[in-house]
Amino acid sequence: MTALLFGLTRCGVPVDTTVLVAARPRWAYNTALSVPSSMTARLKTILVVDDDEGMRDTLTAILKRDHRVIVVSTGEAALAIVKREDVDLMLLDIRLPGIGGLEVLKTVKESHSLIEVIMISVINEVETAVKAMRLGAYHYIAKDFEYDALRSLVRNASEHQDLNRRVLTLSAQVAEQSDREFVAGSSKALQHTMELVHKVAKLSATVLILGESGTGKELLARLVHREGGRDDAPFITVNVAAIPSELVESALFGHEKGSFTSAHRQQLGKFELASGGTLFLDEIGDLRLDLQVKLLRAIQEGEIERVGGTKPIKTDFRLIAATNVDLDKAVKEGRFREDLYYRLNVIPIKMPPLRERVEDLPELVNLFIRRFNAKFHKQVTGISESALQILRSYWWPGNIRELENLIERLVAITDKVWLSDEDLPFDYHFAKLDASDRGHETLFQEACDTFERNFIIRALERSDWNVTAAARYLGLPLSTLKHKIGRLDIREIARRLRGA
Ligand SMILES: Nc1ncnc2c1ncn2[C@@H]1O[C@H](COP(=O)(O)OP(=O)(O)OP(=O)(O)O)[C@@H](O)[C@H]1O
Ligand SMILES: [Mg+2]
Repeated sequence: MTALLFGLTRCGVPVDTTVLVAARPRWAYNTALSVPSSMTARLKTILVVDDDEGMRDTLTAILKRDHRVIVVSTGEAALAIVKREDVDLMLLDIRLPGIGGLEVLKTVKESHSLIEVIMISVINEVETAVKAMRLGAYHYIAKDFEYDALRSLVRNASEHQDLNRRVLTLSAQVAEQSDREFVAGSSKALQHTMELVHKVAKLSATVLILGESGTGKELLARLVHREGGRDDAPFITVNVAAIPSELVESALFGHEKGSFTSAHRQQLGKFELASGGTLFLDEIGDLRLDLQVKLLRAIQEGEIERVGGTKPIKTDFRLIAATNVDLDKAVKEGRFREDLYYRLNVIPIKMPPLRERVEDLPELVNLFIRRFNAKFHKQVTGISESALQILRSYWWPGNIRELENLIERLVAITDKVWLSDEDLPFDYHFAKLDASDRGHETLFQEACDTFERNFIIRALERSDWNVTAAARYLGLPLSTLKHKIGRLDIREIARRLRGA
């Protein structure tokens, strides 16, 4: 049955206002895997964009039973909604006052590629509708559609969106797995460390990784494990500092049934679980002195004894230890056994702090932007040079973990495709003011220089690196700007950027 819908009873939807019709609670997830997907689907949000009040009312009446429907009468209002709401599908009139349907479609697809758009056209507009499909519309429907045809088109578009979402999630998961193991950076300091890693990985000797918190010690340990040919064997991690001290011994060495009150059954320790593979002992500096003796024996003899056990058990594991404390000092202060220290320190590998390899920042930032784009379905393409410059001046007490968290936060909340210095939290701008190890005579000057440098780089970026235009923009004589560019080492940055 063909229904000409314009004459249908109005639903009382006022023109030029956004109306929200929610049929059921927004999130109606069912997580049980055995439930058919049609039942697990969440309630979808459909944005209807049409300047014809009758059409808006009709579409709302048809769709509101199964969907959350938002209606607007202009392209401008539609774009505002897309920014604000989690829209799944759009029914978009081709002819709109103001911004036209095709323009709206293009903008929506650029920023929210997962939204499926069905164009509404009058009969003699089929050519335009085809053009719309080339721009990424899911389909089009003529204004004199049949109810069932519309319902089925919406259902198909919705399934298409689910599929796209799933593909995106799966490819993100696959990418994330290998991405998580990737050690980014090409600074001299990191290269030096990596050369050592490649050499020692094959030796199956004990490795001690030293470095501040968040520098990538565990990432490196996993790389040593993989390159050492133990890829298929277990990689067992124990963070000594995170286990209550009375449980560390049994966690590491295991225990026999009945060896203490709560030992209801035998338990294998991490040394045994790591057999054939690698045991990664994190925060080794926190290991109790009595356990240090047992650890030394395990390394030297390749034997361990379970708590409450009577006979030694042979184990074969590679030990990688890591610490962010100064073990040398701990030995001098009697907190760490000297013999164990020498035994562990056969091949020390130092992870340099981020502040000593700021050359790695662009690569790391881009890696994390890609990672969190996938996680948050964003399309951030990069970071501005002036923002990078601010990050270079920061002293990174939390190292790469802190950088990773910062980029995660920025990507999660941004609506833009480009991160700039304005997006950085306040603390990062004035990082130098807090640096405790700096001489106070130069502190004020350094803070001013950092500010000036960032400000000038921003002006240059805005002026396409044209110094004359930037001077005009800043209201400075050209000679003054040139002098500042020289004094603040901005030339090198400009050269790199223009060469890129
Ligand atoms: N070079 C790198 N390239 C990519 N990601 C890195 C790099 N270094 C560290 N990371 C990431 O930074 C985070 C912290 O790294 P990791 O856990 O290995 O550091 P850590 O030194 O063991 O930290 P902690 O001392 O706090 O235990 C991880 O998410 C890791 O994947
Ligand atoms: Mg760690």
